[in-house]
Amino acid sequence: MISSPPFYLSGIGKRKEKMKVKSKGDDHEERDSEQVSRMFDEISGSYDRLNRVISLGRDLAWRRMAAKATLDVCPKKILDVCSGTADMAIEMARTVGGNPIIDGVDFSPDALDSGSKKLKKTGLEKVVRLKVADAESLPFDDSSYDAVTIAFGLRNIKDRNRALFEFKRVLRTGGRFVCLEFSRPDNRALRHLVMFYLRNVVPLIAWSFRADAGAYRYLAETVAAFPDAPDLCGMLKDAGFVNTRYKQLFLGSAVIHIADKP
Ligand SMILES: C[S@@+](CC[C@H](N)C(=O)[O-])C[C@H]1O[C@@H](n2cnc3c(N)ncnc32)[C@H](O)[C@@H]1O
Repeated sequence: MISSPPFYLSGIGKRKEKMKVKSKGDDHEERDSEQVSRMFDEISGSYDRLNRVISLGRDLAWRRMAAKATLDVCPKKILDVCSGTADMAIEMARTVGGNPIIDGVDFSPDALDSGSKKLKKTGLEKVVRLKVADAESLPFDDSSYDAVTIAFGLRNIKDRNRALFEFKRVLRTGGRFVCLEFSRPDNRALRHLVMFYLRNVVPLIAWSFRADAGAYRYLAETVAAFPDAPDLCGMLKDAGFVNTRYKQLFLGSAVIHIADKP
């Protein structure tokens, strides 16, 4: 897909660790990190359009809210993890203009390549720098960022605790962590409805877009296996964050977590 790799497309392809996706039943599916990265490479061309349709157009507003929660602390340097096609980084860059500097990292080179094209189109390529990196082992110094963001990414990470420790490590004291993620509503009936939509309707939508329906079945699996909002707060506290709180969006089908480094 990429003819001559830009500087950021390096160090990819060495990950062999297994990602275990445990669904509600007993059946689990294992995907290694390389498969996950390849899957996101393959859907990178249709990812943005499908994201808009699947979230009923809400993903843009959700990212805007997550960006606002991040920019509230006036960060000068922001790290956007699992940046993918760079929508979260672009949302923050648009809001703040030339300052701050935003680094976006992801382990899918093709997703970053799509992001890089969008940055050029929007004239934001000097504000946002993209780099291939694994969220579980960030190539950055301790305390080097004022804020760390992750949008629709934490669900996909194999060792989330390890990633949370990495996010805290690269944050400066008083720095802010903001996570936007799909979730399951608290209300039982709504929860069933959302899971039905994700399991049965979303793969059909993906198929109609000629995208890999399997990749979108994976979305339902990971949402089903992802911790509920209060449990994720607990994980953030265990990782050493303070002031942990969350806001549920769209009847609880998405959630923004905010936490600070003490
Ligand atoms: C659903 S996309 C989200 C992209 C973007 N943040 C957004 O708001 O649309 C999830 C991204 O996480 C990336 N990802 C998953 N696990 C990762 C890891 N361990 N390290 C780096 N990137 C990872 C995938 O490659 C993919 O691009």
